[in-house]
Amino acid sequence: MAISIRQLHPLFVAEVSGVDLSRPLGPETVSTINDAINTYAVLVFHGQSLDDDQLLALGRTFGSVAPPRNHRAGHRLQHAEIADISNLNVKNELRARDDHRRLDGLGNQLWHSDASFRPISGAISMLHAHVVPPAGGDTQFADLRAAYDALDDETKATIDGLSTEHSIFTSRGILGHTDYTESERAALPSVRHPLVRVHPGSGRKTLYMGSHASHIIDWPYPEGRLLLLDLTEHATDKRFVHSHQWQVGDLVMWDNRCTLHRGRRYDDAKYRRDLRRVTTQDMDSINDNPELVAAS
Ligand code: OGA
Ligand code: MN
Repeated sequence: MAISIRQLHPLFVAEVSGVDLSRPLGPETVSTINDAINTYAVLVFHGQSLDDDQLLALGRTFGSVAPPRNHRAGHRLQHAEIADISNLNVKNELRARDDHRRLDGLGNQLWHSDASFRPISGAISMLHAHVVPPAGGDTQFADLRAAYDALDDETKATIDGLSTEHSIFTSRGILGHTDYTESERAALPSVRHPLVRVHPGSGRKTLYMGSHASHIIDWPYPEGRLLLLDLTEHATDKRFVHSHQWQVGDLVMWDNRCTLHRGRRYDDAKYRRDLRRVTTQDMDSINDNPELVAAS
């Protein structure tokens, strides 16, 4: 069956049909998907059925897959490389309201770019829905290339060449979740990344920030914080945002180098939501924090 691509939003996002992602992909299919992700930044595949082995294999087709952070509670899934985007504990039961992992995971409801707090940040994320709640729990995406293009020239000149500092404890701190030990903090030191980048697959300029980014390096902290808040408000304006309403079997791929995303509220005390994600590493970002990459 031929692959077909249908754009879902005036600026970005496409639905891709005619491909079974559970099977090894031939080079032509991989190249079609890579071209599509470079163009649309977010790709939606419906009716997929991948077990965890197949999801990990899919991720590795597109790059090197880094394991997500370790959590206190241990990992529900078999592969350390698969991020558990669910509200379930290791016994497959709904997490308690005060569960540390739940409180940490609520940070996904702030606009962010996956693994931007790491020395090697995230490139392509692939999130697959096993169980979805009957209401709520959408995932929204914002187009950071279009948002950059729409900035006025003065702002573009101001932000050119700036670097930002990112930390997982910044985004968690925004929500008042500060319950992390010294050793948990020491394991994830702050990193820096450029605020404006050229997206490698398209040659287009893009913003790069999100809730892990606290401030601008070499600027007074509150001034840089305000600039980032302003840019986030601009970039997440309705015209740059697409909402994905999940169905079981959906697999959504997105490019973290030129989009932000966030989960939306749902009743996680009542409904199960089981999504699983792999994310490839952005090898270009190695040069942002060479000393940290060398140490890891
Ligand atoms: C993610 C994420 C949001 C959601 O998987 O990286 O941020 O809607 N998910 O669960
Ligand atoms: Mn995420």
